[in-house]
Amino acid sequence: MACQSNGVSTTDCKIKFTINLVRDKEDLDDDNADFPPGIVPRVIEAFNGDTGDVIPRISLSFWSSSLKTLISTNIDGNQEIDKIIMDLNEDLPINYHNQRNDFLTLYEEEFATHFKPHGKMIQVFDRKVNGKMRVFEIYFSDFANADESFKEYHRRMESFALLCIDGAVRITVDPRWCIFTIYEVQKTPKLRYHFVGFSTVYRFHSFPDKIRPRISQFVIIPPFQRCGIGKQLLRVEQNYLIDTFNILEITVEEPCEAFYEMRDIVDAERILTSYPSFVPQILDSKPSSKKAVTNEFHKRLFIPNKRVVHMYELVKLYCILKSDPSKIEELQKEIEGRIKSQRMNDTNFLTQKQRRHGLRSHEEFLGRPAISLNDIEEQFKGLFIKYENVVEKLISSEPEWNTSKEP
Ligand SMILES: CC(C)(COP(=O)(O)OP(=O)(O)OC[C@H]1O[C@@H](n2cnc3c(N)ncnc32)[C@H](O)[C@@H]1OP(=O)(O)O)[C@@H](O)C(=O)NCCC(=O)NCCS
Repeated sequence: MACQSNGVSTTDCKIKFTINLVRDKEDLDDDNADFPPGIVPRVIEAFNGDTGDVIPRISLSFWSSSLKTLISTNIDGNQEIDKIIMDLNEDLPINYHNQRNDFLTLYEEEFATHFKPHGKMIQVFDRKVNGKMRVFEIYFSDFANADESFKEYHRRMESFALLCIDGAVRITVDPRWCIFTIYEVQKTPKLRYHFVGFSTVYRFHSFPDKIRPRISQFVIIPPFQRCGIGKQLLRVEQNYLIDTFNILEITVEEPCEAFYEMRDIVDAERILTSYPSFVPQILDSKPSSKKAVTNEFHKRLFIPNKRVVHMYELVKLYCILKSDPSKIEELQKEIEGRIKSQRMNDTNFLTQKQRRHGLRSHEEFLGRPAISLNDIEEQFKGLFIKYENVVEKLISSEPEWNTSKEP
């Protein structure tokens, strides 16, 4: 996933484009229930037509359980708007409706059939959203065992990935995909399940007998963001993969900044709660201890090798702040030294490669050293700020996650 917003705000566009998850008929006309997509589709962004005094509006409404969809506009019979709707086709769920009445008649069906999530329920938890405690359930499903109705349902959920993640593409139907879906559960008095988000994982084979799961799409819909639900989905997803499959490591496809930070928090919590006995080794500054701990992060917690040093430094900052803040300077020097030697190694590697191909090295080409102390200082400062930010969140939310369970 190329996971980032394209930075275009809907207010910069000449078309108002909104999404709405409809729980009851009235929600369809409730502007307060609308939210903008995470990214603005190019066709909307590019629209520059003239619609007179009327601000054109395109709305995507989804029934909150079945995700059956209505696309509507306030401007009928406008060729340019109709063309945009056609062009949006790729991002839209298949079999969408464009007649409000057809969509509304699905209301009875939505209740009569009592939508039940696909797959196996693997966790129930509660979270406060907009000041109110709500109950959520997470389901696991597998394309290897999925019927056509789930595949179609997945295509509807996937529209949220296309509308929230810049550059996201639909996945192919392959038995190696598995999907974690999250719903809010509402007792009305019958149970209703309202879609909140999902994540897809591809299970790569790793010779000879392991799998290497890679998290691909990961979306929490905007009304539920920043309430800790993404963190919980990621925790449950990782634990389930670890408990269920013989895995080598869990990777993520091109994470965006927000996801990267969320994953740092979740992985640091995992390290600190699963193996508190790592702490003395982490605080010990011997290179052999660092090597041993980072190996364990990979072997026992399935953190990818290229991420273990990052997690080591992050958790070390947390441990130092909790036990002996006077050691921060020592840690800063350690991180700066690590960045420097890594950059030197990368540059030496490149130089050797260039020489082999008869090219001038970076130094010769630039007429100055390829990396300067300033570059290293900048990289260090940026990284340390990120570490401090995550550690601050870990400390402030400690009562929520710190229940040690060393095996
Ligand atoms: C990224 C995403 C999955 C996070 O889900 P969420 O439920 O909002 O995350 P949480 O509330 O559990 O956040 C946990 C932490 O992650 C980080 N985080 C989450 N969203 C963030 C954002 N938009 N910007 C910066 N940090 C963010 C923060 O540290 C946050 O802690 P805080 O709220 O105390 O500051 C969600 O915003 C989303 O689906 N975005 C659109 C699609 C996308 O970008 N997916 C990621 C694909 S790589």
